[in-house]
Amino acid sequence: MDVRDAISKRRSIRRFKPDAVPDELIVQILESARLAPSGSNTQPWRFIVVKDSGARQRLQRASYNQRHVGQAPVIIACCADIKAFGEFPERIDELIAVGALPAKTREIFVPSLKKGGMSADIKWHLLIAATGNTDIAIEHMVLQAVELGLGTCWVRWFDDTRVKEILEIPKNIEIIALLPVGYPDEEPLQRPRFRLEKIVYYEKYGGRCHS
Ligand SMILES: Cc1cc2nc3c(=O)[nH]c(=O)nc-3n(C[C@H](O)[C@H](O)[C@H](O)COP(=O)(O)O)c2cc1C
Repeated sequence: MDVRDAISKRRSIRRFKPDAVPDELIVQILESARLAPSGSNTQPWRFIVVKDSGARQRLQRASYNQRHVGQAPVIIACCADIKAFGEFPERIDELIAVGALPAKTREIFVPSLKKGGMSADIKWHLLIAATGNTDIAIEHMVLQAVELGLGTCWVRWFDDTRVKEILEIPKNIEIIALLPVGYPDEEPLQRPRFRLEKIVYYEKYGGRCHS
């Protein structure tokens, strides 16, 4: 299956077969997250693989009883470590070492980060960055699952405090999404989408294509 197929076949799956998902497939899915891009290669994502049925039922209840959460045989809780950005200098050095960035990057970026300190504003931006980067890794997993014949559903509607308690997630870790994974027991049609004309402009915001 090529990327285009995976993108067009993907659906949010909300009905799963009870069949177990082989561990090798879960590892393959996690591997696709590991390869995702992130700002300064900070890789802030952290994943908890939940197979225990009791824990899955508790996560379903913490997700306002969304049935597909507990029904899937595996839930990958996708988290972001907000402090991962603190290792920014090390990550930059690694990128310089493999020739991905010029050596001067270290002088430019690392001091500028230190000078600013950790104001509330910077923390807010780090939170946004960690969240955004983790979103990318999650979508890698979602598309990889399609190729493996598996279904997933992004779930962001949950009680954060309760999920943190259930999974013993520390304070500096944010839960970005729960990802139920299993064999689909439904084949939904493509869900409605805007036409390109509504979302794409040319040359400036609002600009139309005249060709
Ligand atoms: C960030 C995010 C959060 C979502 N949260 C939920 C959720 O809590 N429960 C759910 O059933 N679907 C959730 N969805 C799935 C969306 O409802 C779904 O992507 C959208 O309706 C389009 O359908 P499709 O994914 O099948 O194309 C979420 C999707 C995203 C990207």
